[in-house]
Amino acid sequence: MNRIERLLSSMTLSEKLGQLTMTACGHAVTGPTIAGDSTAAIKSGAIGNLLNLVGAQDVRDMQKLAVEESRLGIPLLIGYDVIHGHRTVFPVPLAEAGLFDPATWTLTAREAAKEAAADGLALTFAPMLDVARDPRWGRIAEGPGEDPWLGMRIAAAKVRGFQGDDLSAADAVAACAKHYCAYGAVMAGREYASVDISERTVLEVHMPPFASAVHAGVACIMPAFTDLAGVPMTANAAMLRDWLRDKLGFDGVIISDYNAIAELIHHGVAADKAAAAALALQAGVDIDMMADAYRNGLPIALQRGLVTIGQIDTSVRRVLKLKENLGLFEDPYRRGARAEDPAELLKRRELAREVAVRSIVMLKNTASTLPLSASVKRLALLGPLADASPEMRGPWWGAAGETGQITVLEGLRDAFPAVEITHAQGVPIAADDVSGMSAALQACEGADAIVLCAGEAATMSGEAASRAHLGLPGVQRSFCELVFARARQLNTPVIVVLFSGRPLVVPWLIEAADAVLAAWFPGSEAGHAIADLIVGRASPSGRTPVSWPRAAGQVPIFFGERPSGRPAAASDHFTSKYLDVANDPLFPFGFGLTYGKFEFGNLRVSPHAVRESQMIEALIDVTNVGAGEAEETVFLFTHDVLASVARPLLELKAFAKIKLAPGARGTVTLSFAAAELRFLGLSLQPVFEFGEIEILVGPCADRAKLLRAVVQLTP
Ligand code: GLC
Repeated sequence: MNRIERLLSSMTLSEKLGQLTMTACGHAVTGPTIAGDSTAAIKSGAIGNLLNLVGAQDVRDMQKLAVEESRLGIPLLIGYDVIHGHRTVFPVPLAEAGLFDPATWTLTAREAAKEAAADGLALTFAPMLDVARDPRWGRIAEGPGEDPWLGMRIAAAKVRGFQGDDLSAADAVAACAKHYCAYGAVMAGREYASVDISERTVLEVHMPPFASAVHAGVACIMPAFTDLAGVPMTANAAMLRDWLRDKLGFDGVIISDYNAIAELIHHGVAADKAAAAALALQAGVDIDMMADAYRNGLPIALQRGLVTIGQIDTSVRRVLKLKENLGLFEDPYRRGARAEDPAELLKRRELAREVAVRSIVMLKNTASTLPLSASVKRLALLGPLADASPEMRGPWWGAAGETGQITVLEGLRDAFPAVEITHAQGVPIAADDVSGMSAALQACEGADAIVLCAGEAATMSGEAASRAHLGLPGVQRSFCELVFARARQLNTPVIVVLFSGRPLVVPWLIEAADAVLAAWFPGSEAGHAIADLIVGRASPSGRTPVSWPRAAGQVPIFFGERPSGRPAAASDHFTSKYLDVANDPLFPFGFGLTYGKFEFGNLRVSPHAVRESQMIEALIDVTNVGAGEAEETVFLFTHDVLASVARPLLELKAFAKIKLAPGARGTVTLSFAAAELRFLGLSLQPVFEFGEIEILVGPCADRAKLLRAVVQLTP
């Protein structure tokens, strides 16, 4: 009899339910806190898993209680939200998506896993894979952006990075893909609100990144708090059992979100915790995070005949198997056994700086305001995010402290040691306090350039951070407008560095600024990365993985929309448009300026007649006609012009990069399998339909900037 069956045969019901229970410790509060003494429960076997415990010694102490002082000695599974770094913070996931670089996505997850494991952790609640097209929703910051194809690649890269090649290794952590499924489509962008979308959209847009994570071998999956068309994901047998486990073949552990099982009562589908526990267990949820519904509810559910001990055993087996795969039985103390080498930490900070540089998107650069000339003598550095170390972390900052992130002030001082930098906050991020404005405006006098750091606080995106207004918070707009007016009088250029966890609706700022860098939240090396771009040590290369609206009223806005029967036409009143705003975004998916300027030509696609088994290859010439060396990201989209179901106007199928010196020309090759042109037909089953496919290649999801060719899908 193997270890798992031997343990199972000797476990009491309380010990079994303990393996299905995950309780929070004090390191971070990531949900409604439920008090309780974990120590005694760990020793009795009534708690078998923990979250929010960080620190090798604390983990060792708790692990010792389970392994050496409990009856069966089953090790604890301990998890934490290592979303974009642990102690070294990388850019928020939305920013990192804009690198369009799977190798780096894997690398940062691998580095985060090393730090998390060194702190004793064996599980991270990441990657977050919720496709989001609504910037009102704060969790857009945590995910892969608006496109499912991009989300699929991020999913696979992150699972590989966190889990490595051997899940039992001392520096590997189990990944937990979340939040399954369609959480990004909450009603009106309001956090935790209902989700009511078509099955087609669930399967075409929100499911693919999770399917990719399962295919990559993700160890855990976390259902979303939300319902899907009235069925809460935590109790959604069709989505968890039938789709995830039966159809996609996921045989890992499903961990509920924080208290989500108990919240089935608020959803109105369970009368009490016993009923809620029964629904979740039957749907396939293995671990109850912080609801105590399994521990306290399943014994009653058993008495009511709502569940069987066999169903409980099935979940216990999956949890014990995960602990075995993690090597926790062999050596429960292997994670956290050795501190990291300081040289590794230094290298990791350098990586954080490089990734931050590459995640920042230059939205505007009039008259080559950037990079600043070396002749600059005086800089005015203004705004509430100019010297804000805690904010540079962005939401879900892991174990990073409030200090330790390089601020813009520190970064510019390091980059410009001989330049006089006058710093003034002007106004706070959100409070209605204008007392600092006059000093800030005074600081503009005599400056060669003004760097204005505006935007959101780290906690204004991420969980429980929906915003109905998508402009600058507080009185920042009034302040910025005064700075712009003063700068015009002084004929001084204004460079805006915008910090946010979402696209902001600030057309007035884009219009008034001479240059704009969308920095998102760049993490530990924020200030150095921003300074590298401002002084020209690197060219901006980031691309936005989400569309930037002109107005909040356009939301949801994304490039993969299906056509209207009345496509917009300025000359025809009765066509799909607004009376007051253009249809297109202010900045489309994939947009990002560099210190070069790229022109595209000579698109050639082969073969012209394509069978399903073949590859489609596109070559395009790219020329840098700009002044600076830079890296261009080239995208390949397709459009199925005539099919049994209306198809999206653009679908992303490939991207590639090319770095060119000024005046240089190169050729980029983009290829993808024709089989990727399958889609869900009328019956929601995959079909490969013959006929014309447009191939569109260029710098972003703006059809006007794409070169076009066509291929014919043939038998
Ligand atoms: C939170 C979040 C989830 C996180 C979990 C544990 O409520 O929804 O993303 O992993 O609780 O902190």
